[in-house]
Amino acid sequence: MGSISISPDTAVPAHILESRQTPANAALFSLSGKTVIITGGGRGLGIVLAAAVLEAGGCAACIDILPAPSGAEWNDLQVIAKKSNLRATYHKCDITTESELSECFDQIAAEGTRNGAPLGGTIACAGIQQKIPAVDYPADSFRRIMDVNVTGTFLTIKHSARIFMAERTKGSIVMIASMSGQVANRGLTCTAYNTSKAAVQQMCRSVAQEWGQFGIRVNTLSPGYIRTAMTDELLTAEPEVEKTWMAGALLGRLGTPEDFKAPAVFLLADGSSFMTGADLRVDGGHCASA
Ligand SMILES: NC(=O)c1ccc[n+]([C@@H]2O[C@H](COP(=O)([O-])OP(=O)(O)OC[C@H]3O[C@@H](n4cnc5c(N)ncnc54)[C@H](O)[C@@H]3O)[C@@H](O)[C@H]2O)c1
Repeated sequence: MGSISISPDTAVPAHILESRQTPANAALFSLSGKTVIITGGGRGLGIVLAAAVLEAGGCAACIDILPAPSGAEWNDLQVIAKKSNLRATYHKCDITTESELSECFDQIAAEGTRNGAPLGGTIACAGIQQKIPAVDYPADSFRRIMDVNVTGTFLTIKHSARIFMAERTKGSIVMIASMSGQVANRGLTCTAYNTSKAAVQQMCRSVAQEWGQFGIRVNTLSPGYIRTAMTDELLTAEPEVEKTWMAGALLGRLGTPEDFKAPAVFLLADGSSFMTGADLRVDGGHCASA
């Protein structure tokens, strides 16, 4: 077999050096000049991720089915926005109704362009959960989980990509999945939810394969257990569930919505420009041990 010797003096060809030009560190995590849509942005994880977008220099367009966002958190968001001269807007919209969602996204994109911050990213965070033993699961309830978590998420990313393609924007899409897309949670009877999150992870790979040619990136962010309105209800009703969750918590705590700010900004910003079709699991080590 022949060998190739590489002298330490061998110069790296200019075209390779050029392709390696990367922005300075701060720019790798910057969302400056971009508007980011956050579904489920009325409360919980979504509204905290909207704050992360503002803190990274982007404008945040929160979408939720709630008539109004969670009061105290929304006020905090407006303070951050005002301080940095950025925009944070709220739009009531059901992500399962395509015409409503499409119109809402077009309006946000047009406003963003008018204000010098075109649509550049989307966080698909809206989702619902339900705990029913599989053998008793009513078909309508199962379908409702699929409708919001799978079809609603699909419509969210479909219309984001439509706008990115029309505007020739290399947008980044972050879909909030869950570690429950990969593992079944001990002690929880959430077959519909777990099935929906596995679907979101596979949806990500499918569209990444279709949209990479347009420079559109799609990744999933899969949280472990987080204390939000969604889980508080369950933990209040069944306090013993927390013990089961804590047994797998390698860092000795459950997650907080703030734990997901940096991972979400990383996936949206240019620092992750070679990442698509991937899952970023952030679970406090839960899936690392049996
Ligand atoms: N809390 C956790 O432990 C945990 C763990 C893993 C993944 N997740 C995922 O994180 C995301 C956010 O969860 P959360 O804990 O903040 O829950 P949450 O219930 O506090 O927030 C979900 C938001 O989605 C909105 N929503 C529901 N249906 C909608 C619809 N049809 N159209 C528009 N908005 C709708 C709700 O109104 C709510 O504001 C979900 O996708 C959830 O599955 C949560």
